[in-house]
Amino acid sequence: MIEVKHAIKSFDGNTVLKDVSTTFETGKTNLIIGQSGSGKTVLMKSVVGIHRIDSGEILYDGRNITSMKRKELNALRREIGMLFQGSALFDSMSVLENVKFPLDMFTEMTEEEKIDRAKFCLERVELSHALDLSPAEISGGMQKRAAIARAIVLNPKYLFCDEPNSGLDPKTSLLIDQLIQDITHEFNITTIVNTHDMNSVMEIGENIVFISKGEKAWQGTKDEIFDTGCEPLEDFIFASNLYKEIKKAHKFFHDKESSDPPRPKTKVKISDTDYEPVEDEPNGDQKKTQVVSK
Ligand SMILES: Nc1ncnc2c1ncn2[C@@H]1O[C@H](COP(=O)(O)OP(=O)(O)OP(=O)(O)O)[C@@H](O)[C@H]1O
Ligand SMILES: [Mg+2]
Repeated sequence: MIEVKHAIKSFDGNTVLKDVSTTFETGKTNLIIGQSGSGKTVLMKSVVGIHRIDSGEILYDGRNITSMKRKELNALRREIGMLFQGSALFDSMSVLENVKFPLDMFTEMTEEEKIDRAKFCLERVELSHALDLSPAEISGGMQKRAAIARAIVLNPKYLFCDEPNSGLDPKTSLLIDQLIQDITHEFNITTIVNTHDMNSVMEIGENIVFISKGEKAWQGTKDEIFDTGCEPLEDFIFASNLYKEIKKAHKFFHDKESSDPPRPKTKVKISDTDYEPVEDEPNGDQKKTQVVSK
């Protein structure tokens, strides 16, 4: 778990993060959402320690990075995987060499161990067939997958992804989102994803932090996002006609559910007789209950 407490960050008198407090949970895809320029990247870079915040605290499972010396911070960075905007692969290296690179830099593993580990991660993102290709020879979605493999090669406890879907079509974006979520669950990683893609929000938003003009304006799950009462969030989400329609449909089904008479889901005991509900009739009416025991 990563906790951010009262984080403030300014650049030349321009306060970008205004007293942000939030929690990012372990084993979940935590999303930071908000309009362009709202401060998502500054928040993420502050959490990673690339920006030093002016005041406040950032705790990685209780470890306060704001009071860490450079050496401690470097050690903590070994536990962090990063996927920044654009996949930032090295063009002069093959896909396999790119993924192996952090192992070359930061570990004492043998060459054989490093190749095995890099191949394992590439297999996990379904790129075993592209080991020897260069980044220029693979598609944008494959480049993202290779970058994800590189981000997890050191077996990180924390994974940061800034706009992982930028430049990808909706279907490929969905696959990347699902891959990030699967890896998060499989390896119990605290994952933080910056996005302004509403499809990602609805797909993998297990814990969503909405930033508006440098402040945390709302936090919740994808199931709670349709009914927040938070005006800037509503403006952000329902900017497109598609999501306006989805909201109407969501409200319709919600209202219908609350006006329908409650149905018994388990055995109901009435007087001395047990009744069990049976399947609905095709016209929506419930069949009369059957006596199943006495
Ligand atoms: N290094 C910097 N120096 C000065 N100002 C900065 C710096 N980095 C970011 N800012 C300012 O902080 C504000 C928030 O920027 P940030 O990059 O966090 O936005 P964002 O929410 O990530 O936007 P986008 O969705 O476009 O990526 C902007 O006004 C930006 O100009
Ligand atoms: Mg950004």
